[in-house]
Amino acid sequence: MKKRVAILISGRGSNMMALVEAARAPDYPAEIVSIIASRPDAAGLAWAKAQGLPTVAVDHKSYATREAFDETVHAALVEARTDLIALAGFMRIQSAAFVQKWQGRQLNIHPSLLPLFKGLHPHKQALDAGVKISGCSVHFVTEEMDSGPIIAQAAVPVLDGDTPETLAERILVAEHKLYPHALALVASGRAILDGGRVRSGSTASRADGLFSPQL
Ligand code: GRF
Repeated sequence: MKKRVAILISGRGSNMMALVEAARAPDYPAEIVSIIASRPDAAGLAWAKAQGLPTVAVDHKSYATREAFDETVHAALVEARTDLIALAGFMRIQSAAFVQKWQGRQLNIHPSLLPLFKGLHPHKQALDAGVKISGCSVHFVTEEMDSGPIIAQAAVPVLDGDTPETLAERILVAEHKLYPHALALVASGRAILDGGRVRSGSTASRADGLFSPQL
């Protein structure tokens, strides 16, 4: 049985597109059952509608509290019989109650090699730190932002002359490969949450969660 996945977005939704495209393969272990946007004008929402995907806009501005917003999102997820959530550029901090309800079933992508450069402006943080390799990470969501157990990571070189924009563009190419891979690992049971860490299922290669650039 394919896992039923809802994707939560706030903006352009390029990672959502990569997941939707990947899930079109007949042997992909997950299907995309809902796209939920925190902004009705999110560019990704228009794309999803044009694809004929089920979409829901939950305008965060219409909710007085974080909890009320989260409850509406939760109801939409239940309505879509969601097994797994993929956050893809979803710019809302979630309430503890929501995170707990979806513990171990919610994934996020962040454009750095976590635990480095959490939070806002990770590309600028990487450049300011002078690292030669950055990348992206897919992790399970926990209450602390960008801090949950890591499922898979891709390394991306930082080049002389990079700006936050050029580095973001290079990392984004890797994100679009890594996220479908990581979601497939979780959906197929090849990545298993075990305490605070993610381990490979018995048939998986130990390198399943790792991508490296060619040197
Ligand atoms: C990506 O860089 C993602 O890692 C971060 O926000 C950005 C979203 O981009 N969390 P998109 O909306 O998927 O194009």
